[in-house]
Amino acid sequence: MIKSREVLVYGDPRLKQRAEEVEDPSSCADLAERMHALMEEYNGAGLAAVQIGDFRRVLVWKVGEEQGTLVNPRLELEGETEIGIEGCLSVPGMAGDVRRALRLRATGFDANGKEVDLEAEGLLARILQHEVDHLDGVLFVERAELGSLRPAPMTAVTGI
Ligand code: NI
Repeated sequence: MIKSREVLVYGDPRLKQRAEEVEDPSSCADLAERMHALMEEYNGAGLAAVQIGDFRRVLVWKVGEEQGTLVNPRLELEGETEIGIEGCLSVPGMAGDVRRALRLRATGFDANGKEVDLEAEGLLARILQHEVDHLDGVLFVERAELGSLRPAPMTAVTGI
């Protein structure tokens, strides 16, 4: 399948740039819509605006039938952690093991400017931590357990 190639890949200096707080979250509706469409196109489970070269603090996620948008996300991590496999749409063909908080509370706004307050655990908690890292210019390869980075076909690991 031919992809639209809109997602920046590892080595692009824009992926290291820190995204900026959004003054009016309701101004992000078009961006969020485009990000959801791209996430679907790439069969991903998460995407940060930085990954398409937009430096607003916006992320989208999809787990099963549930999906959401977070503008200006803030995460409160709980203490317990677990190591799990991660892949990234911006680091195609690679996987690694990353330690993340198992549970967290996420607050922010949706793309209509409505406040969001959600409790997440497991995969969703992992996705949100991975995407907020993107907004801070951090890639999962920098957090991966020593020696855990390995080649992985895109079909074997969900990109986030
Ligand atoms: Ni990623």
